[in-house]
Order: sequence, then C-alpha cells, then structure tokens
Amino acid sequence: MRDEEKLSKSLGAEKQGSNRLIRSICQGIIAIVGICWITIGLGISPFSHGIFDYGSSGELGVASPIENAFLSALDVNLAGNWSEKYTSVPHLAGQGIELVDWTAKKFEEYGLSTEIEGFDIYLNYPVENGLALLKKGRNGTSVAYKASLREDALPEDPTTNGDDLVPAFHGYSASGNVTANYVFVNYGTKEDFELLKSQKVNLKDKIAIARYGKIFRGLKVKFAQEAGCVGVLLYSDPGDDYYQEAKGDKAYPEGPARNPSSLQRGSVQFLSEAPGDPTTPGYPSQGDVERADPKGLIPDIPSLPISHKEVAPILQKLNGHGLSGSKIGGDKWKGGLKGFDYWTGPSPDYSLNLYNNQSYDIRPIHNVYGNITGSDSDEGYILIGNHRDAWIKGGASDPNSGSAALLEVIRGFHQLQLTGWKPRKTIIFASWDGEEYALLGSTEFGEKYGKDLQANCLAYLNVDVATSGKTLGIQASPFLNKVLNDSLHLVDYPLGGSLHDHFFESKEKFGILGSGSDYTVFQEHLGIASVDLGFKGGPEDPVYHYHSNYDSYHWMSTVADPGFKFHNALAKYLGIIALKLTERKVIPTEVATYGAELKLYFQRLVDRVPAEWLDVPSGKCHRTVSDVITSLGDELNGFLENAGVFDLRSEALQSKWDSSEGQPFWRRIVLHYKIKSLNYKLRYLERRFLYRKGLDGRPWFKHVVYAAGRDTGYEGFALPGLKEALDDGDIVSFVKWLKIIRAKVRKLNDDYA
Ligand SMILES: *[C@@H]1O[C@H](CO)[C@@H](O)[C@H](O)[C@H]1NC(C)=O
Ligand SMILES: *[C@@H]1O[C@H](CO)[C@@H](O)[C@H](O)[C@H]1NC(C)=O
Ligand SMILES: *[C@@H]1O[C@H](CO)[C@@H](O)[C@H](O)[C@H]1NC(C)=O
Ligand SMILES: *[C@@H]1O[C@H](CO)[C@@H](O)[C@H](O)[C@H]1NC(C)=O
Ligand SMILES: *[C@@H]1O[C@H](CO)[C@@H](O)[C@H](O)[C@H]1NC(C)=O
Ligand SMILES: *[C@@H]1O[C@H](CO)[C@@H](O)[C@H](O)[C@H]1NC(C)=O
Repeated sequence: MRDEEKLSKSLGAEKQGSNRLIRSICQGIIAIVGICWITIGLGISPFSHGIFDYGSSGELGVASPIENAFLSALDVNLAGNWSEKYTSVPHLAGQGIELVDWTAKKFEEYGLSTEIEGFDIYLNYPVENGLALLKKGRNGTSVAYKASLREDALPEDPTTNGDDLVPAFHGYSASGNVTANYVFVNYGTKEDFELLKSQKVNLKDKIAIARYGKIFRGLKVKFAQEAGCVGVLLYSDPGDDYYQEAKGDKAYPEGPARNPSSLQRGSVQFLSEAPGDPTTPGYPSQGDVERADPKGLIPDIPSLPISHKEVAPILQKLNGHGLSGSKIGGDKWKGGLKGFDYWTGPSPDYSLNLYNNQSYDIRPIHNVYGNITGSDSDEGYILIGNHRDAWIKGGASDPNSGSAALLEVIRGFHQLQLTGWKPRKTIIFASWDGEEYALLGSTEFGEKYGKDLQANCLAYLNVDVATSGKTLGIQASPFLNKVLNDSLHLVDYPLGGSLHDHFFESKEKFGILGSGSDYTVFQEHLGIASVDLGFKGGPEDPVYHYHSNYDSYHWMSTVADPGFKFHNALAKYLGIIALKLTERKVIPTEVATYGAELKLYFQRLVDRVPAEWLDVPSGKCHRTVSDVITSLGDELNGFLENAGVFDLRSEALQSKWDSSEGQPFWRRIVLHYKIKSLNYKLRYLERRFLYRKGLDGRPWFKHVVYAAGRDTGYEGFALPGLKEALDDGDIVSFVKWLKIIRAKVRKLNDDYA
C-alpha cells in the first residue's frame, strides 16, 4: 500500500473508527504510563531491591534490613585467606600477573561483570645497587665499609626469604654511579634545606642523607637535587619510633621495635607536581601515545633506601664535622641512632660511592574492574578501589590488607545478590596496579574515562592500607561526612564499642585529603567526592615496617591483626558506606557541612593575612584586599545559609519518599522526579570546585579546595591557592585566588539558592 492510499483509507474510516480512536488513545496513555513505570519504576517498585528495601531513612545507629544482611554475611571472615594469597608472590607494579588473573576470577566468582585493562607505563625495575664508605688515607682512598642493602632473612617469616625478593631501590630514581662527600640533612624538608643553607653548610656535589618522615620521600630528593646534591640516601631513624631497642624494647620478630635491618622502598617521583605516568601528564598511556620528557616530574640524581643499622657507621663519621645537631636544630635535629650526634658534616676524610642501576622501559600494568549494575541507571555509579601492587613480596598491610577488605565487601554484596538484591546505583570495584610508583593505574583510568566519571560518578571510596594498626583514620571530602559519620555507628570496633565511639574519642572531625593514594585523580583532578580509610598505627602500636620485607603475612597474622578482626571491621564499614550511598533514594549528604568547612578553612587563612596587605588596592572601584576578603566571606555565609535550607528540603523529600508506599503511583512519580533533580544537583556539587587552569605551577591539580601539599606531597592543605600565596608572601596571587574562589562560591549560591 502506498502512503496516500493509506491516508485516504484511514480518513474514510474516521467516523466508524471513532470508538477505536478513543480506545487507542487510552491504550497510548496506558503504554506511556507503562513505559514511565518501567523506566523509572524500578526505583518505585517494592520488589526492586529483592526482598529488602532500604527501609526508613535512618534512626541513627539502626541498620536497615539490607545493611543487616550485609553485616551478617561478613560475620564469616575470610580476610585472612585473601591476605595470605595476595602476599604469596612478588607483585611489583606490572608484575604478579598470577594475582591479576586470580583477582579477576574472584570478582567473577562473586557475581561481578569483570574486565582487565592494561596501560603502558614508563617505569623502572632495579638491576643492581651498591654503597661503599670510602676513607681517604695516606696511600689513597680505600673502602672502609660496604653496605649490604639487604634485610635479614627470618626463619619464621617466609616472605623475608627466597631468591625472589625485591631489592632495595626507589621507584623512578635515576641511575648513577656517584662518589662524593656526604651531609646529614635531617628530614630533608624544605625548611631543613633552608636551615642548612642559612647556616652555610655546603651541599653542592654532596650526597644527602635524610631520615624518612614528615613529607613524601620524592620531595626530599627534589629538594636535595635543587640544593645541588648528587645523590640521596634515605633511612628510618629509630628515634622516630615509640618502641625502641635503645629503650629496652625487642625488635621484630621478638618484639614491637623496628628490625634494625629493615629499609623502606618507595617512589621518589615528584608527587605534588602530578601523579600518573610521567611521560603522559594529563592523558592516558595506552599504545603508541605521544610521550613527553619526564624531566621535572622525576629526579635526575640517584637515591637508595638503607636501614638504620647500615647507615649508622656512615653517619657516625660525621661527628665533629660541620655543625652539631644541637647547634643547628636543637631537638628537632636529633634522632635515636647510637653513636651519632647528628652533625651535619661533611667530613673531609670520608666519602660514599653510591651506585644505582635502574632499567627503564615502557611496561604494561593491569587494572581489574568489576561491576554490579544498579536498578536505576541514570542515578550514576559509585567507584570503590584498592591498589594491588606492593614494593615487596608481602605487602600484608600495604596494600593487601585493603585488597582483602575489598574482596570481603564484594563477597558480602554477592550474598545479597543471591537473595535477589540489586543496588539502586551501579557499583564499580577496581583493583589498581602501579599505585606505588605514581598512582599509575587509577590516574591513567581517571585520565581516560574522565568525561564519563565527571558525568556519572557520585563518589570514590578508597582503601589502601586497611590495617597497619588499631586507629581508624578517615580523610574525606565533606560531601561524604554525613554518610561516613552515620555508618560509623553500625560497625563494632574490634576492641569494644562502636567505630563511632572509637573514632570520635580522639578526634573531632574527619581529616582532609592530600595525596599518596588512588583517590588523588578523582578528588583533585576530576572533582569527585572521595574518601580514604584504614586502621593506621597509633603511637603505641608495634612498629609498622612500611615498604619493608617485614610487612608480611607473618607479621600481620601474629602481630598486627591476629584473627583479621580489623580487616573485617574495615570491610564492614566500607560496605555500609557503599550501601548508604547507593540505596538511599535521596543522596545522603549535608551540603551545609561542606559550607561550614569552607568557612573554617577560609577563616584560618584570613587570620594569617599580613595587616599591611589589607588596605592595598585590588583592581577596580577603589576596592582593597580587605574588601575582596569580605566579599568572599559574604558569599561563603550565603552559601552556608542556602545549603541549610537545601538540606532540610532533601531530608523532607526522603521522608516523603519513605512514607509514600501505597500512595497513588502518580504521586510517587512526581516525587521521584523531584528527587531526581535534587540528586542531579548534588552529584555535581564537588565538580563546582574545579578550576580549569589548575593550581599555579601544577595545572594537573584542578580542585580549588583540596590538593596534595606543594612541599609535603602527602599532607593536604585546604584552599591551596590562598595557602601557597600566603606561604610565598605573594599578594597578587592571593587576590587572584580570592577572586577565583569567590566565583566558584557564587555559582554554588546560584545552584543552591
Ligand atoms: C580459609 O582459611 C582457613 C584457614 O586456613 C581454611 O580452613 C578455609 O578452608 C579457607 N577458606 C576459603 C574459602 O578459602
Ligand atoms: C562497568 O560500568 C561502567 C559504567 O557504567 C561501564 O563503562 C563499564 O563498561 C562496565 N564494566 C564492566 C566490566 O561491565
Ligand atoms: C700504606 O702504605 C704503607 C707503606 O707503604 C703500608 O705499610 C700500608 O699497609 C699501606 N696501607 C694501606 C691501607 O694500604
Ligand atoms: C662506579 O664508578 C667507579 C669510578 O668512579 C668505578 O670504579 C666503579 O667500578 C663503578 N661501579 C660500577 C658498578 O660500575
Ligand atoms: C646496568 O646494568 C646493565 C645490565 O646488567 C648493564 O648493561 C649496564 O652497563 C649497567 N649500567 C651501568 C651504568 O653500570
Ligand atoms: C557525627 O555525628 C555526631 C552525631 O552522631 C555529631 O555530633 C558530630 O558532630 C558528627 N561529626 C561530624 C564530623 O560530622
């Protein structure tokens, strides 16, 4: 039939068909309603979440049925099994393929739709090292002592034995063979180097010896390089430990003090410039992508880690040379090495030969992803990640206590799925590779999928070290404070009480994110609200042998967490946070918390503004710096007010939703759409803080509120633009950042008014 014919026929049949017309209109309406019901309805149907529903939005400390089911599933604790597996073979970045496959197999076994993705990364593996102390004698120079650069093999600790141990080396350190006099530079912080310079200690062409602590190790090497040094040694000073052999404590494996032969591997990449593959800053490293010179992101000078036992004879030779520790820095310059009085050196009679041979190449690393698809696809997803790679064969704390906890969460969710449950939002799990070198797997992922993540990802939950001690540490975007706080009530602390009791006994609030783990790209580059959690060592926990062979399954199962109770508590906590984020109809956040934090950060910085800056003109309209400060303060106050009203509305909508069951479907649909638009706004809250051009001198960092500390690496500082301008005494930059932040808060005020 041709079209005209069809038309005339239907027109001719008009009268006769009027009944049919009404019927088809009715059918149409029913179909439309049906489609609405199906597309949005899964969130409305009482069956969508299996036999459970999230239940009432929450009496504090009372778990919903689905939360209870998850907690009971984890009353069976298999974390120890996973810990043993993950620590059984070496798994340096790009290695341990056996564990990649095993992880993917486990993800699949527990019901996740699973994928392995490779990236091609410029990185180093160690070839050879050497360190000799040389003495100048009458007949020339002779070797006074050679360091082994090895940790003692312990008969009772299997992963400290074998011919497959990872040598002492630094990720991204430069190859080199240097012979030079050496100096002690304390922690090697910016302040330490400034002090040495002001005291006229000559650092040019010297090897710097620094103790670990205070800041990220790569920045110690950076500052040494900038001071003209030609090599670096890093060691852990026993004086920085609570338990010390010098105080009569026995060392591991007999007691809680540091094993004197232990040494800390680790990356010396310049973390606060940008993480990720240093040859592909800002874009993913796959295939034959164009690569940049990594200079400026990794050191030019060689470095090695060394134990305190082996560095002591070297440092002792500095006594009496240069400035004494008490003269240059007082107590701040004093550690606990026997026989060393913390002189700066150099000694004219002794030098070091430091040999570091690293093999650099483009090498594959492997992330594993696994999804549980949610019932409400346009509510986006949450991402939960842990890295798998370790510096050593073991890695029972770092990172595989987190790997074990992650797998436990997945196992718990599988139990829920077996009852027919589906989360409301999709959950994606990630096992990252290459975190240790430069947050490689997560950063490349974030750089590759940034658009999708920014459109759809509500939050990133990170667990790296789940257990190295007994004190819960939480650093997070304030966007997550509410859900983190509420979840603390539902999990028992292994030593009694709830996690909430434990956490707030010692602290008043959650910490802020800096860098040093996989949340960095999400929070600080893409603007996705993130959290990092784990039980860390408190002052009186046994020494945690970070990045040493003694971070082993044996240490974990006999000293740090016998019974894997802390692993279990962390897995429970992580799972509950995920459930609250995915299950609740209204995204559970309090915008006012973010507002209050911003105000606090800002006030702290304003208190530091030099009085003489205040009356300086700042551009147009005869306004002064003080005026700009005031106007940003006003915007922040406005935001806090708006946010408070907004929060009341979200709470009201959630209660309406909770009590809407049994109401006419169209009421629920109207409510559903109201909540959707509110959720939409919330999902993008964190993105509002991104500044396209990034921070001064390090454009990869785009978040105006949180960033890795420029001179610390690990430790974060809020409102970094303003903070750095104050540190540098740079009024122009200070005003610039006031205005950038003011524009951001204004936009927020438009959103939340
Ligand atoms: C976990 O480890 C325990 C103790 O070694 C063992 O009895 C059990 O079979 C293991 N379970 C699984 C699921 O691997
Ligand atoms: C997981 O979900 C994301 C986002 O929806 C999707 O892009 C990805 O392909 C999924 N991966 C798997 C393994 O299903
Ligand atoms: C230095 O030379 C003297 C005299 O030739 C010799 O007795 C001594 O053993 C030498 N010392 C070293 C360390 O070679
Ligand atoms: C390092 O250089 C020195 C000369 O400065 C040389 O004697 C030594 O053999 C070199 N070491 C290696 C391992 O190449
Ligand atoms: C590093 O080791 C490789 C492989 O053994 C060797 O070919 C190369 O010469 C070494 N480089 C240096 C600077 O010693
Ligand atoms: C956590 O919740 C408690 C109430 O249980 C509240 O008093 C406290 O202020 C909250 N703390 C944070 C940091 O949100």
